[in-house]
Amino acid sequence: MDERKKRIFSGIQPSGELTLGSYMGAIKNWVALQEEYDCLYCIVDMHAITVRQDPALLRRRSVNQLAQYIACGLDPEKNIMFIQSHVPQHAELAWVLGCYTQFGELSRMTQFKMKSQQHADNITAGLFTYPVLMAADILLYQADLVPVGEDQRQHVELTRDIAQRFNGVYSDTFTLPEAFIPKMGARVMSLDDPSTKMSKSLPDGCVNLMDAPEVIMKKFKRAVTDCDTAVKFDKENKPGISNLLTIYCAATGKTMDQAEQDFAGQGYGVFKPAVGEAVVELLRPIREESERIMADKAYLESVYRTGAERASYLANKTLSKVYRKVGFVGR
Ligand code: TYM
Repeated sequence: MDERKKRIFSGIQPSGELTLGSYMGAIKNWVALQEEYDCLYCIVDMHAITVRQDPALLRRRSVNQLAQYIACGLDPEKNIMFIQSHVPQHAELAWVLGCYTQFGELSRMTQFKMKSQQHADNITAGLFTYPVLMAADILLYQADLVPVGEDQRQHVELTRDIAQRFNGVYSDTFTLPEAFIPKMGARVMSLDDPSTKMSKSLPDGCVNLMDAPEVIMKKFKRAVTDCDTAVKFDKENKPGISNLLTIYCAATGKTMDQAEQDFAGQGYGVFKPAVGEAVVELLRPIREESERIMADKAYLESVYRTGAERASYLANKTLSKVYRKVGFVGR
């Protein structure tokens, strides 16, 4: 990797299908940033087991997710693309960083609070320390930027705090990362409940990258709107319509003004299918390309193997520095 370029790290859990939310909040920016930065894009399978997974399904999703990353436009020649559990330094650094993270800090994490409600019968230590593993992912590669959706901002802030604390004790060790959050699509809301985030754990209001066109159309036609009929952006009073407008803009590249003009004087009966069509056209090439790449297991294996080797090389540099600084005996 060229040392002069700034570095990027980001990842998505293979705990479900890739969603329109993760595409608009994260992957779209990953694609845009790959030309200018040295990027590592990860399939964070170790994060996924913080809630119970079906092992066969997790394995399949992890490899399929790689195919979908490539189909979205990420070039394995330009970026380091790998599976988190193939690079054990993530877990090793997470242990060390956990010793520099406060119980109170982790208790304040919104994602932990939400997920511990959703999985009240299985609130594991892993779910609690999840943000420490995420900090390790980022700091291991000295990442400058972390392209994510709005919901991950708090975790990136915590990562900075941990890095700053460690640097303060042992002198400069980690680059302080910044979250890179898109202007449009940073928080795509559920189609059946615009007060909650679109999420793979709430399948009804969620559009998946691999959904067939007729499934996508059905979901948009059924999307929750509100009582008046104007297609206007007003997040407070018209959350459903505002969400659909945002999706439309993110899918077509139009500004909000242009989008409102497109539908001036038209009702929801025209608007909702039009948003559906825009998403169908956005996702069609991605789905077709994913299907083609998913069938080529040998190619995918070569990508994730090479990715793990290259990631491991960079990870070792940071980890050995950290081990030396905290006082571990060198081998
Ligand atoms: P995850 O797997 O929940 O989501 C993956 C990415 O997609 C974004 N995203 C959304 N953006 C907009 N609207 C939505 N409805 C929406 N849903 C998801 C997320 O913000 C995220 O960028 N902890 C992370 C994974 C992770 C990670 C990392 C990210 C682990 N280590 C290191 C960056 C750097 C997570 O749970 O994302």
